[in-house]
Amino acid sequence: MATKVAILGAGNLGTAIAQGLIKSDIPAADITVTRRNISKVGHLQKEGFQLTVNNVDAIKNATLVFLCVQPKQLSQLLNEIKSSLSSDQIIVSTITGVSTEEIASQVEKKISIVRAMPNTAIAIGKSMTCLCAKDADEKQLAEVKRIFNALGETLVIEERLMKAATVLAASGIAFAMRYIRAATQGGIQMGFDSEAAQLIAAQTTLGAASLLLSRESHPEIEIDKVTTPEGCTIAGLNEMEHQGLSSALIKGIITSFDKINSIKK
Ligand SMILES: NC(=O)c1ccc[n+]([C@@H]2O[C@H](COP(=O)([O-])OP(=O)(O)OC[C@H]3O[C@@H](n4cnc5c(N)ncnc54)[C@H](OP(=O)(O)O)[C@@H]3O)[C@@H](O)[C@H]2O)c1
Repeated sequence: MATKVAILGAGNLGTAIAQGLIKSDIPAADITVTRRNISKVGHLQKEGFQLTVNNVDAIKNATLVFLCVQPKQLSQLLNEIKSSLSSDQIIVSTITGVSTEEIASQVEKKISIVRAMPNTAIAIGKSMTCLCAKDADEKQLAEVKRIFNALGETLVIEERLMKAATVLAASGIAFAMRYIRAATQGGIQMGFDSEAAQLIAAQTTLGAASLLLSRESHPEIEIDKVTTPEGCTIAGLNEMEHQGLSSALIKGIITSFDKINSIKK
């Protein structure tokens, strides 16, 4: 049977998922997207997606039901759809900070739930998406994984690590951007205009990440290859460490983690 998808909440993430799903060979006509103010996503209809304000209609016949609203909008949405959900559907929740257990208790029925934590690079098919599942069998999890694999890289993790995944993968986009911006500013001070400096900094960061991923290498191995004895790279690198670069990054990541753990819904 063809996979039919409902995406409830066509904001930044919902829209990106809809557009990415086409790459996982699900036709736009089999994807229904909702939001209350659909005039803001009229372009999706032109792209072939089904568009409606009615969440209950949207989930009829859907194999996969994506929840893509803000955390504070979730209870109202679940109240609206829970009596129409059936146990052969799979809920895919992208909602930050809401556990599969909380969703299960709100829908008041046994249903497969997969929780997904992507990042904004999902819009260009380059997301790092962490997944965990509750009451989903291997086939159902594989189906969700297949979809997110078309939108980047996926990793199935234990649910207890979902907040850590939020910091490392979702907030991680901001951390990586700050590195690129700082490198750009250094480039400008050395004489490049900002456009050239940003291109060099961003492509170099992409290259560094690609070396690790494609060679399954280790950062220190790649660093050793570019640090000539008494050279400029090791001089700069050691100065960055004296200034606390690694320590600042680790402390920043742990501060984000402490913050996410302290946030009350
Ligand atoms: N952005 C990311 O990279 C990212 C990454 C990981 C996780 N997340 C999580 O993904 C969720 C969505 O994030 P986002 O950035 O896409 O937020 P967003 O842009 O605010 O999108 C939420 C959308 O939901 C719609 N909505 C609200 N209530 C609705 C309802 N009852 N029925 C149908 N649609 C409804 C809103 O549109 P209307 O007001 O028009 O209804 C809005 O467009 C959040 O829970 C966030 O924590 C986001």
